Amino acid sequence: MIADTTSGLPVHRMRPLVARPATEAGHRPSGPAAAAGAPPAAAEAAAPTLADARSRIEALVDPESFEEFGSRVRHRTVAFDMARKRPAGDGVVTGHARIAGRPIGLFAQDPGALGGSLGEMHAAKILQVMRQAERARTPVVGIIDSGGARIQEGVAALDGYGGIFHGNVRLSGRVPQVSVVLGPCAGGAAYSPALTDIVIMRRTGAHMFLTGPRVVQAVTREDVTAADLGGADVHSRHSGLAHLVADDSAGALELASQVLSYLPGSCWEPAPMGVPAPAEAMPALPDNPRASYDVRKVVRGIVDAGSFLELQPRYARNLVTGFARIEGRPVGVVANQPMALAGVLDIASSEKGARFVRLCDAFGLPLVVLVDTPGFLPGSKQESGGVIRKGAKLLYAFAEATVPRVTVVLRKAFGGAYIVMNSRSLGADAVFCWPDAEMAVMGADAAVDVIFRRELRDAPHRQAELVERYRAEAMAPHLPAERLSVDEIIAPERTRAAVAASLRSLAGAVRLGFRHDNLPQ
Ligand code: HXC
Repeated sequence: MIADTTSGLPVHRMRPLVARPATEAGHRPSGPAAAAGAPPAAAEAAAPTLADARSRIEALVDPESFEEFGSRVRHRTVAFDMARKRPAGDGVVTGHARIAGRPIGLFAQDPGALGGSLGEMHAAKILQVMRQAERARTPVVGIIDSGGARIQEGVAALDGYGGIFHGNVRLSGRVPQVSVVLGPCAGGAAYSPALTDIVIMRRTGAHMFLTGPRVVQAVTREDVTAADLGGADVHSRHSGLAHLVADDSAGALELASQVLSYLPGSCWEPAPMGVPAPAEAMPALPDNPRASYDVRKVVRGIVDAGSFLELQPRYARNLVTGFARIEGRPVGVVANQPMALAGVLDIASSEKGARFVRLCDAFGLPLVVLVDTPGFLPGSKQESGGVIRKGAKLLYAFAEATVPRVTVVLRKAFGGAYIVMNSRSLGADAVFCWPDAEMAVMGADAAVDVIFRRELRDAPHRQAELVERYRAEAMAPHLPAERLSVDEIIAPERTRAAVAASLRSLAGAVRLGFRHDNLPQ
């Protein structure tokens, strides 16, 4: 993985792929999707062609590792002339395979067979993948490209989805589930990816929505394209549904295997060790304590070079979450981002953080938490929007987590946010802070305003002096260090060594086995 220096977002190098004759640009050249404004996959015209289920599977898994089952399955619907349209496999290719030598179960819907629509037997095949994965304790990858519930099959199709949702929930927290959305994913069907751990979308042509543009038009008179309703941009920036977006199908599939490289096959297995690498140089923070900086540079100064995979990078940007490795050991990173909203916690970032923490805890990934936050975002919008309820989810997730947890306070940690961000009192195994870090109930100006209100009324010129006094007597890092709320005050350049040593010493604390599910937040 390399960094895109213009956007700061991760860019992924592609593996060589097996080319197939059809092109994705030529996939669905017309029809309702095109009429609804779904952009053609023009950007992919020159890319490797991955328009059908089998070529997608081939691009994802180790060569010759795919074992198909259910290839002769056909639906048994006779209504609406369906007896004449009975493609072998019923619109989904299912089986098991290996990625980087590790076993997975997988299914890929085939848009070329009945539009990849899901009927009774199509669903039965996917359920069989899930059943096997549960028995064999392997991850499940679903490649989604489907017109949704097969209309001709009626309730049987709806029940098919119900069974899949039930299966998703049964597997949640037991084996990793990854959804790669490469085409339409409409209606209630979109809930299956939402129940899985990671959703990856192709930038163009992938759409997820409960009601399509035509229904929206009919019901609300809103004119909206499929892309504006449920394209990758919407779900990566606004809804937070998509964890990762790739420019093309090959990139999306590559991301799926990258995600799996951090995760164990199941909650009963340890996470796979990677090849250790040194970290990048630790950047210096700005001299001005209010100046913003990109916390991802600090992350890269701690983790193995090239190992950081940020999730939901464009959603709730004030909290950075992602997988990385330290000395080859997979970890989950949670970090306040001073570059966005000054790193405050709010509703969206609390939910984003909570689900990520629970994901890491479910699969035994230690948590590395970098703190630099002025607190929770104040205001009636946040309060009425439920910031207490949503913030409690993050609090709950950290307090519940049994994986090793290491916190580093970089610059400031005030109030409820100090506690929520994996403080010692919430059960952090190790807490470090940098020499200039400030920890307190609130920032100095606000605190002085409250506790020296009377003095300031009589002598307003004492403001600066009182702020200095508060800093020295209530915020200095030696104060929490004297009470073991902080274990050690460390120089920034020692951060990686300190975090790595803690993780090494805590390796035995990872308890294998089922801990909890990964409930969508
Ligand atoms: C049966 C379907 C189908 C469906 C597509 N097809 N969707 N058949 N049930 N849901 C068939 C088409 O009839 C066509 O068959 C073939 O697949 C290709 O479809 P086209 O429309 O020609 O392709 P394209 O132009 O690329 O458009 C793809 C599409 C569009 C955007 C997916 O087909 C579409 O809008 N489909 C309906 C989407 C939808 O509303 N689904 C229901 C959502 S509700 P032929 O024989 O002509 O090749 C839902 C409830 C789930 O899913 C609830 C779970 C709890």
